[in-house]
Amino acid sequence: MLLKLLFFGGKGGVGKSTLSCAVALRLSERGKTLLLSVDPAHSLSGIMGVEIGEKGREIKKGLFALELQAEKLVEEYAGNVLSSIEELLPSAKAGIREYVKYLKLSPTALETAILDKLVDLCGRYSYVVVDSAPTGQMLRLFNTAHMVKGWFEFLHRFAKERERLERFMGRDDRLLSLIESRKEKVKLLLRLLKEKAVIFAVANEEKLSLQEAETIKESLKDLRVYTVLNLWTKMDWKGVKVPLCENPYGVEGLLRLNVDELLEVLEK
Ligand SMILES: Nc1ncnc2c1ncn2[C@@H]1O[C@H](COP(=O)(O)OP(=O)(O)OP(=O)(O)O)[C@@H](O)[C@H]1O
Ligand SMILES: [Mg+2]
Repeated sequence: MLLKLLFFGGKGGVGKSTLSCAVALRLSERGKTLLLSVDPAHSLSGIMGVEIGEKGREIKKGLFALELQAEKLVEEYAGNVLSSIEELLPSAKAGIREYVKYLKLSPTALETAILDKLVDLCGRYSYVVVDSAPTGQMLRLFNTAHMVKGWFEFLHRFAKERERLERFMGRDDRLLSLIESRKEKVKLLLRLLKEKAVIFAVANEEKLSLQEAETIKESLKDLRVYTVLNLWTKMDWKGVKVPLCENPYGVEGLLRLNVDELLEVLEK
């Protein structure tokens, strides 16, 4: 069962990927852990010192890592949508294909596909650690979760009405159950975010990065967000700190990185 779903966000270059790797390494000593990169500019392989890629691999006992490949994920998601709807509405095949073409190009297609995959993956691990893209893109991921909820509620109303008419005509309608299962998946996603997610808004001592971390906190008010001051040396800071560490690369280097304060937060 999933215990915690962690996200590392923040300004470019503040240490999101490094902290994701270091924390995932520690968590894998407690339970089966997935280190997941959803940043199209992946860097887990470089930091871990092993090739990870889109198929993923086991880095050490209990720690799996995966670098999602954006285009393929959207293709896969759109393909699933296409085949399930085509089966139900064969007469509308051409129209649906056209719709899916636009679906793939829509502004939040990537986020929708990532979230869909994330829910599946969460079912298989005790801990999932997500290395996110810089702030704007990460916030879009969270906003998409709510947008998708609204979209399926709309589709559900439509499908219910259709089912009523089909029943009246003495016909079976499976569209409603398809929409309902999708709606349930989105509900599960929102529940996971509410109950299991801990978001680390990473910053360093630079003012702009601290401001971005505050933006994340403000924007995700309903979720558990902690600002983390990374590369900490001496700045006065009451919150979660991760000190500067020499060469935090590879399993050995990352285990030297002191992420105790991050792990403490997870106990709360
Ligand atoms: N606590 C630390 N001590 C020393 N070096 C660190 C620490 N945290 C991160 N670094 C270094 O800072 C640099 C940027 O780190 P990283 O790639 O993890 O940042 P990022 O936020 O994921 O960047 P991007 O936005 O490009 O994805 C790397 O060279 C990394 O080794
Ligand atoms: Mg990174």
